[in-house]
Amino acid sequence: MNRLNSILKYFAPMLVFAFAIGLLNCASASVQVPKHVVIFFSSETKNELFVCGCKEKLGGLARRKTAIKNCEYPHIVVDVGSFSKGSKRFEKLKTETLLKCYNNIGCDVINVGTNEYRLGDELVRYFEKIADAPFISANVADKNRELVFPPYKIITVDGLKLGVIGVVSSAFVKDEVRLGYRILNIEEQAAKFVPEVSKQCDLVILLANARDNEIENIAAANPGIDVILGGRTFNYSENDRPTKLGNTIIHKNGGMGKYLGRLRLDLQRATPVKIKDYEGFNVHLGDDLVDDPEILKILDEYRTRLKTTDFTKPAEDSKDGTTGTGEKKDSSDVSDDDILADADLANETPAYLSYTGALKCAECHKEIYNKWRRTRHANAFITLAAEQQDKNPQCFPCHTVGFKRIGGFVDFESTPKLVGVQCENCHGGGAAHVIAMKDPAKSGPAITSRVPEFFCKKCHNDEWDAEFNMEEKLPLVDHGTDGTE
Ligand code: HEC
Ligand code: HEC
Ligand code: HEC
Ligand code: HEC
Repeated sequence: MNRLNSILKYFAPMLVFAFAIGLLNCASASVQVPKHVVIFFSSETKNELFVCGCKEKLGGLARRKTAIKNCEYPHIVVDVGSFSKGSKRFEKLKTETLLKCYNNIGCDVINVGTNEYRLGDELVRYFEKIADAPFISANVADKNRELVFPPYKIITVDGLKLGVIGVVSSAFVKDEVRLGYRILNIEEQAAKFVPEVSKQCDLVILLANARDNEIENIAAANPGIDVILGGRTFNYSENDRPTKLGNTIIHKNGGMGKYLGRLRLDLQRATPVKIKDYEGFNVHLGDDLVDDPEILKILDEYRTRLKTTDFTKPAEDSKDGTTGTGEKKDSSDVSDDDILADADLANETPAYLSYTGALKCAECHKEIYNKWRRTRHANAFITLAAEQQDKNPQCFPCHTVGFKRIGGFVDFESTPKLVGVQCENCHGGGAAHVIAMKDPAKSGPAITSRVPEFFCKKCHNDEWDAEFNMEEKLPLVDHGTDGTE
């Protein structure tokens, strides 16, 4: 008996193996598929290339790649959309960098999201050329309602055919043409392609850069969809876990690249292939994941390019519609120095030209100071820090006080009081005025309250704020009339 047992023990696995082979042969006209497949997905990365400036210190593409590389299962990598963030030259550089990183990571398909269609056809096509992965969309169309991207892409992983369809929310653009695109109804378009894709594939996956209600409606109306991946900004699956609506697994991972969506499907190797079980979560991209050196290199190249781009000058290619309106009003005939001359300071010694920082002004203009603190100007350096650009001199002319001028900003360590856009960016260096106001023996307010439109436009130029409109914008930074409260 004992002996028989041990013989059985020895042979049992082989028997099982033979049996399994038999089963497979019976079952399949279909090819052999893997037991597990993992789908990695990102949504609303919005040009976040680096670890976030936030408390948790999460994210970054260098960690994202490591998390994907560590995966032991066959896997695919997809982007649900809104990977970009606007058409400013600086953002354009970031999107180019992001796509180069995607190429390095090995992305399989990219869905066109809200942030992309808002860029307009020309710029999206430019990005499409950079990406190795194809752009897809089943509902971004031209003005004649013709789709402008392939609606889906079939990805084969070890014999398993995954049909990936892309859609974007149509809630924001109710059947109108913007920048050459017309966004067709998301629910109708999803429904249209599910049967077609289903026929050709083992599983149907929908990438939906869309609102919750749109996703739920699509899942309810199309039981043929196996998986929906989505997530708008800061919209994640509850507890980071996927939910199920009917037959459809829904998993969300929204928001600025801090997490990486991951969904493992455990497959039944039958015809048709079925999802036996699944496990999904959002990988927290923390410092336990080492930075991938190849991605770091691409990010370094980006930093170098930033440092050599003069953002105070219009882009050479500004006529292509991607970096500004193209229309340039010449304001170079009046300069900073004219403003200072206006305040009768032209012949003063350099010390009088210099800057004191807003805190000094607060001593006498408290109410104005408090109002200014609440404007975005006051936080303009924090913006740079969040972008890890607080050491990039190309950004200083417009995000600090008096850069390259006597007594102006040098770097954060030596002139910490002169960060952000402050009083003296608009009113000119205030040292002389402070002295005059403190000592009645010194004459007049050596400062001006005259801040004409062209002065704003030195910073709000074609590159950064092509649509700047004084009437609209001034009230947002205005500080009323009582100067000395
Ligand atoms: C010691 C107090 C004091 C400090 C410090 C001070 N101011 Fe003034 N400021 C005044 C007074 C008082 C007036 C009104 C003077 C007048 O109308 O003669 C004034 C007027 C002004 C005006 C209006 C000038 C005009 O053309 O009517 C501006 C602009 C101004 N200050 C900006 C600043 C800025 C910027 C700072 C910081 C660099 C600053 N002030 C610091 C006391 C001060
Ligand atoms: C020294 C450069 C500089 C000058 C001069 C300047 N700004 Fe700004 N402005 C900025 C920067 C930089 C930001 C973005 C700050 C951020 O969010 O980090 C900004 C943001 C703003 C915003 C908020 C964003 C928006 O567009 O709604 C308004 C409003 C604004 N500026 C209005 C003005 C007006 C009006 C003037 C002239 C009276 C002016 N600015 C002059 C640099 C400048
Ligand atoms: C010529 C002036 C100028 C220079 C140089 C400049 N900026 Fe700005 N920046 C602005 C203005 C003006 C705004 C506000 C635009 C708006 O929000 O309408 C702004 C806004 C921003 C924003 C917020 C953008 C958004 O849409 O929320 C970021 C981020 C930023 N700048 C980063 C940088 C970085 C990084 C650099 C250097 C590589 C830089 N800027 C150089 C003028 C400038
Ligand atoms: C974005 C440019 C900008 C910044 C930054 C700014 N101001 Fe002004 N300031 C103006 C403009 C424009 C006026 C003209 C009056 C108006 O329309 O608000 C003005 C007017 C004034 C006046 C004259 C009294 C009045 O309210 O008309 C004082 C005083 C003054 N500013 C002080 C300050 C102080 C102090 C700070 C910093 C805490 C500051 N300003 C920051 C643009 C600016």
